[in-house]
Amino acid sequence: MATSRSLSLGGLAATLIASSCLLSGAQAQYYKIGSVAEIKESARTLAYDLMLFYQGNKTGEIPGILPGPPDDGKGDYYWWEGGAMMGTYIDYWHLTGDPSYNHVIEEGMLHQTGPDHDYMPPNHTASLGNDDQGFWGMSAMLAAENKFPNPPDDKPQWLALAQAVFHTQAAPDRHDETCNGGLRWQVPPTNMGYNYKNTIANACFFNLGARLARYTKNETYAKWAEQTFDWLWDVHYIDHEDWRVYDGGHVEHNCTDINKAQFSYNAALLTHGAAFMYNYTSGSTRQKWADRIENLVTGIKRDFFPDGVAYELPCEGRLGACTADMLTFKGYVHRWLSVVTQIAPFTAKTILPLLWTSAEAAVKQCTGGATGRVCGFYWSNGTFFDPAVDSTTGAGEAMSVLAAVSSLLIEHADPPATNTTGGISKGDPNAGSNSKGATREMAPITAADRAGAAILTILVLGCAVGTFGWMSFGD
Ligand SMILES: *[C@@H]1O[C@H](CO)[C@@H](O)[C@H](O)[C@H]1NC(C)=O
Ligand SMILES: *[C@@H]1O[C@H](CO)[C@@H](O)[C@H](O)[C@H]1NC(C)=O
Ligand SMILES: *[C@@H]1O[C@H](CO)[C@@H](O)[C@H](O)[C@H]1NC(C)=O
Ligand SMILES: *[C@@H]1O[C@H](CO)[C@@H](O)[C@H](O)[C@H]1NC(C)=O
Ligand SMILES: *[C@@H]1O[C@H](CO)[C@@H](O)[C@H](O)[C@H]1NC(C)=O
Ligand SMILES: *[C@@H]1O[C@H](CO)[C@@H](O)[C@H](O)[C@H]1NC(C)=O
Ligand SMILES: *[C@@H]1O[C@H](CO)[C@@H](O)[C@H](O)[C@H]1NC(C)=O
Repeated sequence: MATSRSLSLGGLAATLIASSCLLSGAQAQYYKIGSVAEIKESARTLAYDLMLFYQGNKTGEIPGILPGPPDDGKGDYYWWEGGAMMGTYIDYWHLTGDPSYNHVIEEGMLHQTGPDHDYMPPNHTASLGNDDQGFWGMSAMLAAENKFPNPPDDKPQWLALAQAVFHTQAAPDRHDETCNGGLRWQVPPTNMGYNYKNTIANACFFNLGARLARYTKNETYAKWAEQTFDWLWDVHYIDHEDWRVYDGGHVEHNCTDINKAQFSYNAALLTHGAAFMYNYTSGSTRQKWADRIENLVTGIKRDFFPDGVAYELPCEGRLGACTADMLTFKGYVHRWLSVVTQIAPFTAKTILPLLWTSAEAAVKQCTGGATGRVCGFYWSNGTFFDPAVDSTTGAGEAMSVLAAVSSLLIEHADPPATNTTGGISKGDPNAGSNSKGATREMAPITAADRAGAAILTILVLGCAVGTFGWMSFGD
């Protein structure tokens, strides 16, 4: 990891020269978002361009994933990002009504379920993080909430897939007494990062629990969600003063060695889950969730929307510091916050203006490439920077802008459905109970696997400490 990172930094100078050449030939803005029709048209083109990164529906390619994983030299993208992209298109269809990609998405979502229908496919279990599995589970949940067309009867159904992911993560083998509870980052004990209990793994689990509670009205899910949020609070991954949301800590330190990196998706995912809890509960419990949402949104606006434009705090200040994972976070923040305005409508007056100013900045910088409409990641600057500065081909950058633009249609879209408000997906209370993912005979784990498909935020930053000198923690 250290080696590849320094190599890519070595290439940075050349990239910067290339970028400044592009800058001097600054192009006119391509995308317009001045009306619903313009937003739909822009989203349509952005969706088309993002699909160019996807090879999964070509003969001989693997459905559901973007080219990768990097350790195998197959491309820039880890397994989970395919799941996140599937979710982006499930929202794209819901928001715009354009079904063009539905068949591609259904195929990808079903191909990656694995033999036990729990998003632990053998190709990826050896390097599985709870967050990786969680992102696929959340896309399945979204398909249920958006009333995405159901798979054929002989295939696993969206709601049951989300339940399976949740149930495998609620099982005793994923929980232990270290740090008084909480999920570990990694699933297999042999993985680097198994000793790390982080916010994103627990936020995915919390989020799925909250959504399953609202969709099915089964109180068991709500209890898990409540307990998981309380744990994040008790270990101070959520700051008790200013509601900053931190990254995680290690079990050998009782999770007190908190890595204070603030990634935007952690705060946004907690807010999104809290909004489902708010909507599901009532009375003083609902008020408690309302207060949490209010505080989290205040923090998000303060830390991640300087001047009203999405900004990825831990990496954005330095060109080349954002990993392929981080380059996707702005898109989730836009998508999740937009849904928060539907199910916790008291937030709309704060959130909607941010989504607009941020999306305006997002499209303004999409002036790159031969088409004059390729998007970069540096929305605040108003000028295009080639994704090559961050050593990627640009799928995360494209996905983030697609998400920001299509989410502008949220006020015209149905809120997430439930079992009693039009939901059409069939659940299975026993889904995931026969999962063998963690115990199935696995191929020997290679070094590449170990560093593998999990969300590499921490490892990459950990290896780059010498370069950045602003953070230090060890495994
Ligand atoms: C893959 O999907 C895209 C988008 O729907 C479509 O344009 C393309 O023809 C598909 N390719 C194959 C081989 O099916
Ligand atoms: C697993 O990987 C193999 C080899 O790359 C591939 O052929 C297969 O389609 C993959 N399976 C799934 C479910 O992705
Ligand atoms: C509620 O969910 C729990 C956990 O998944 C499950 O064990 C239980 O059977 C469910 N109850 C009903 C009534 O579906
Ligand atoms: C670990 O931290 C928790 C708070 O998160 C605390 O309640 C517990 O006593 C600590 N355990 C040890 C062994 O220090
Ligand atoms: C719950 O969500 C629905 C949309 O599904 C919304 O109409 C309703 O106002 C929300 N409830 C509260 C208390 O905000
Ligand atoms: C963005 O603009 C700010 C202020 O002009 C500058 O400090 C920063 O280096 C720029 N970043 C990028 C990625 O262009
Ligand atoms: C809603 O849930 C109830 C109880 O779990 C079930 O009987 C019913 O079939 C579900 N309805 C739909 C539309 O899924």
